[in-house]
Amino acid sequence: MSLRAVIAGVGSALPARRVDNAELAKQLDTTDEWIVERTGIRTRYIAGDDETTGTLATEAARRALDHAGIAASEIDLIVLATATPDQTFPATATKVQTALGIDDCVAFDVAAVCSGFLYALTVADSMIRSGGAKAALVIGAETFSRILDWEDRTTCVLFGDGAGAVVLAAEEGGTAGILATKLHADGRHNQLLYVDGGPSTTGTVGKLRMKGREVFRHAVLNLASVMGEVLDLAGLETADVDWVVPHQANARILDATAKKLGLSPDKVVLTVDRHANTSAASVPLALDVAVKDGRVKRGDIVVLEAMGGGFTWGAAVLRY
Ligand code: COA
Repeated sequence: MSLRAVIAGVGSALPARRVDNAELAKQLDTTDEWIVERTGIRTRYIAGDDETTGTLATEAARRALDHAGIAASEIDLIVLATATPDQTFPATATKVQTALGIDDCVAFDVAAVCSGFLYALTVADSMIRSGGAKAALVIGAETFSRILDWEDRTTCVLFGDGAGAVVLAAEEGGTAGILATKLHADGRHNQLLYVDGGPSTTGTVGKLRMKGREVFRHAVLNLASVMGEVLDLAGLETADVDWVVPHQANARILDATAKKLGLSPDKVVLTVDRHANTSAASVPLALDVAVKDGRVKRGDIVVLEAMGGGFTWGAAVLRY
C-alpha cells in the first residue's frame, strides 16, 4: 500500500474592497473595454490597511480546515507560497501557525511567484508520501497591490490580492489524491517579469516590472507542455481530464492553452474575471470556487497548472 496526499478541504479569502475597471480608469489612462478585451479581467480585490498576506492566508486556512473537518491541532506542516510576505523574515507561514494556535509544526514559505502554489503542493506531497507529515496546510497568499507601480497601466490593472488554501491528508491506499506533479524553472528569463528591488540589492521592496507580450508567448508554450508531461507521468490522457484549474493571469492565455491541448474551454475553471491575477493565490482560489459551486466533485480528475516569474512553471494532476 502506498501513501497518497488527498485534498481533504479547500478554502479561500479575499480582501473586503472590490475594485472594478471603471474605478481604475478614473486615475489611469485605461478603459474597461481595453482591460476586458485583452485580459478578461473585470474586478480585483485590494487589501486594506488591516489586511495582509498573513491575515488573508490565515482566513483561507481556517476555511479549508472547516471544510476538511480537521482541527488545527492535527496540522503538522504548513507550506505557504508567496512573493509578498508580511516581513522579509520570519516566514509568513509561522504567522499563520500562531494565528491558528498551533504550538509546534513544520512551517515555511516558498517563493516561486505565480507558480508558488504548485511548488508548495509538490513539496507537501513529497513530505506526506515519504511519511514526514500527516496533515498539511498548503497555502497561496498574496498582496501584490503593495508591489505594483500604480502609475504603470501595463501592469497595475492585471493583479489583485487574495489567498487560497488546501488541507492535504495522508491516506493509505484508495484512489484519491495527488497522482503526479512536475515543476520547471529557467532563470534566464528574469528580466521579463521581476521586482526591481530586494533586501540584498536595493534594500527596498521594489515594484513589479513585466514585458507582457513576451511573457504571454512563453506562458502558452510552457503550460501546454507541462500539462502534457504531468498527464504522461500519471498515465492519463487529455480525454480523462474533468477539470483544469489554471493559474488565472489572462483569459486569453487560458483559451490558447486549452486549444493547444485539444481541451474544451468548458473544462477550464475561470476566475480571472473577478479576481484578476493573484499570483500564488490564484490556483487555490479558483479551486475553492469550483469545489464550493459544485463543479469539481469527489472522484474527478483535476489538473492544476501555473507559470510565473523566474520563469517557473509546473502542473499537478489529482483525483479529487
Ligand atoms: N489600458 C490601455 N492601453 C494599454 C494598457 C491599459 N491598461 N496597457 C497597455 N496598453 C497599450 C500599450 O501601451 C500598447 O499601446 P501602443 O500600441 O500604442 O504601444 C497597446 O496597449 C498594446 O500593448 P501590448 O502590451 O502589446 O498588449 P497585449 O495585447 O500584449 O496585452 C497584456 C498586454 C499584458 C494584457 C498581455 O501581454 C498579457 O496578458 N501578457 C501576459 C501577462 C501575464 O499573464 N503575466 C503574468 C504571468 S504570471
